[in-house]
Amino acid sequence: MALRPLDESFMSPSIALLARDAPLQSLNTFGLPARAAWFAAIETPLQLAGLIATPEWKRRQRLVLGGGSNLILAGDFDGLVLHVRISGRKLIAENADAWFVRAGAGENWRDFVRWTLDRGWPGLENLSLIPGTVGAAPIQNIGAYGLEVAERFQQLEAVDLETGEGVVLDRAACQFGYRDSLFKREAAGRYLVTAVTFRLPKRWQPVTGYADVARELEARGIAEPTARDVSDAVVAIRSRKLPDPAQIGNAGSFFKNPVVDAATCARLIARHPDLPRYPQPDGTVKLAAGWLIERCGWKGGSIGPVGVYEHQALVLVNRGGARGEDVLRLARAIQASVRATFELELAPEPVILGP
Ligand code: EPU
Repeated sequence: MALRPLDESFMSPSIALLARDAPLQSLNTFGLPARAAWFAAIETPLQLAGLIATPEWKRRQRLVLGGGSNLILAGDFDGLVLHVRISGRKLIAENADAWFVRAGAGENWRDFVRWTLDRGWPGLENLSLIPGTVGAAPIQNIGAYGLEVAERFQQLEAVDLETGEGVVLDRAACQFGYRDSLFKREAAGRYLVTAVTFRLPKRWQPVTGYADVARELEARGIAEPTARDVSDAVVAIRSRKLPDPAQIGNAGSFFKNPVVDAATCARLIARHPDLPRYPQPDGTVKLAAGWLIERCGWKGGSIGPVGVYEHQALVLVNRGGARGEDVLRLARAIQASVRATFELELAPEPVILGP
């Protein structure tokens, strides 16, 4: 990205890159053409401290940006975008039970997972090929094919953007839930994650309960899969079902799968006997938003430049030239259909910013 010269009101010797009126189109995987009034690239926690120490800091709204793969920019951002580019990955400890691997928040998630598997440390294989960065993974507790990152999470380091202080948060402190954490609720906007440490199990067991994974391994004739086998299977399934953001703009699943109580589920089954459903340990039932959307006739459909992906109805795609309002228009139309047909509310899964 071309960066304009430093602006004096934010000037600090330790800031690497600071720009005004910066384009964000190449920094969000949906390819939405928003701009940021201010933009800073953060390569070290020290640079962030330098920025927080400037008088201008408290006067600006802030947005922490990782890989931009879970973000819908529905308008320009009139504040300061902090683009996290903190790198580094390392085995920091090991005991009889686990390897403890720490990575900078700006590391690319896909590359990081591949690197752990190359080193012979299993545990993240079900999360292969998810777009985004290491630092963003705990924010929405990324999950796929029967595993959530919370299950491999040890702790994270973050900077409190209000006070400038460094904090270390363990799994309990992060309050992980389904595509959810403290950072999407009461602490939204408060922290910038600088590094994450994962606990990768030595007594590893493959997680192959998810129907697609079991089917793929069976088709490959693999009865006792290694972590690499599971990763290969997940990569194959994802490549078939989910659009590569490098080819077609998208933000992964656009809605969360709705979780309903048993009575609501029973009512729905009475009218739709083939409703896919996943009973949860707490007695609730998770439904498949992709199925609900497909049933409403949206799969492969479009409104203007935004469409519903042909191979997975839960993913909205940029068919070219989409703007934030186009995405929201289609999202609202889908929500209205699902409400009318099933009396269910679909909640967006990515962070939606503005207008
Ligand atoms: N389905 C349809 N039509 C569709 C899509 C799905 O009928 O167009 C049905 C499938 O046949 C299946 C069920 O819905 O019975 C579930 O589909 P799938 O296994 O593809 O998973 P999903 O529930 O749609 C979730 C995650 C994905 C994750 C996959 C695999 C959410 C919001 N999405 O999708 O995560 O990769 O499971 O674990 O939980 C993401 O968060 O961005 C994401 C891609």
